[in-house]
Amino acid sequence: MAAIKILPDIYSVGVVDWNVRNFHGHTYTTARGSSYNAYLIIDEKITLVDTVSAAFGPELIENIKEIIPLEKIDYVIANHVETDHSGALPQIISLCPKAKVFGTAKCKEGLYKHYYKDWDFQVVKTGDQLKLGRRTLTFIEAAMIHWPDSMFTYCPQDGLLLSNDAFGQHFATGEKFDDQVDPCALMDETEKYYANILWPLGAVILRKIQEIQGMNIPLKIIAPSHGVIWRKDPAKAVNCYLDWASGKTRDRVVVVYETMWQATEKMARKIIEGIISSGIQVQLYDIAQSDRTEVITRMLTAKGFLFGSSTHDNDMLPNIAAFLEIVKGLKAKGRKAGYFGSYGWAGGATKEMREMLKDSGIDQNGPEISVKYVPDPSELAACFDFGVKFAESLK
Ligand code: FEO
Repeated sequence: MAAIKILPDIYSVGVVDWNVRNFHGHTYTTARGSSYNAYLIIDEKITLVDTVSAAFGPELIENIKEIIPLEKIDYVIANHVETDHSGALPQIISLCPKAKVFGTAKCKEGLYKHYYKDWDFQVVKTGDQLKLGRRTLTFIEAAMIHWPDSMFTYCPQDGLLLSNDAFGQHFATGEKFDDQVDPCALMDETEKYYANILWPLGAVILRKIQEIQGMNIPLKIIAPSHGVIWRKDPAKAVNCYLDWASGKTRDRVVVVYETMWQATEKMARKIIEGIISSGIQVQLYDIAQSDRTEVITRMLTAKGFLFGSSTHDNDMLPNIAAFLEIVKGLKAKGRKAGYFGSYGWAGGATKEMREMLKDSGIDQNGPEISVKYVPDPSELAACFDFGVKFAESLK
């Protein structure tokens, strides 16, 4: 896509990746594609904020050339080392011989360990300023949002926060702003991004947002490095992050199971009938058929999780095991988990699932129900009651 002016003398020069469907080593499915946003500020000192992934470097270069010759770039701000934002940096620096790179100390270390180049690099920390001319940039370290090197760049003259990964969305669009896209799709992608990338970092995010709010700097526009720019309602993005980071939940249970011969599935269906009868929202996923990225997104604001598996070799089935390995890392404090499953001659799945979540931060001491072979009518009634009791325990 071509360069687009987003503010006087500030251009979006990044690229849209319409076809990417997997991200972060296949841990995140990107059904709506993504974008790698970079921003060019024209002032007495010409400044590029972030780059794009390496494969899109030529497109970034063409976009910049629409505005200025590349050799005129004075400064490159590297808000983040991860290669979706720094991959094209070697291409840029080779064409901008006088450019100086700015980033955190961890960024300097990380860039060197990726590209093994001794670029002219100035380490910056929170509160450091860089005068461009009419504009001045202020740097805000944002360690672990979501890498140790991460940083935000703020431009007070525009109330513009260049937030890199924070407030981003994997959302490929021809439009550049929040008020130009389907609001439901935008919020869905914002929530998905938070749930699948930032969820374990809630405490850090909460502190960082509070720190920025304490700085009393106006946030008129938030320009992340993925997806659209928040110009109509940046507070919406900030408030959603505050809710998610503080663990705010709804009356909802997410039930995730894997079944061998459909006995565990029969239990799952009866359990959710019980939950629904209690007036609690529920979502049911057979994890062997479901998109894990989507399931984790729906779990973000759920109060309770129920995990089900048939027993196989005294253990759970492999798809639910792989999923719980991810769930364990989410550090989903304040959520309650319960377990269910069918077995043949010896159980084990419910015990193993509970054990898997031992250090997850989830209250893993919830109830469980197991059934030998296929549930009969009285066992199905017990599953219904199990659902009711679990739902009631969340109220
Ligand atoms: Fe979009 Fe952490 O990279």
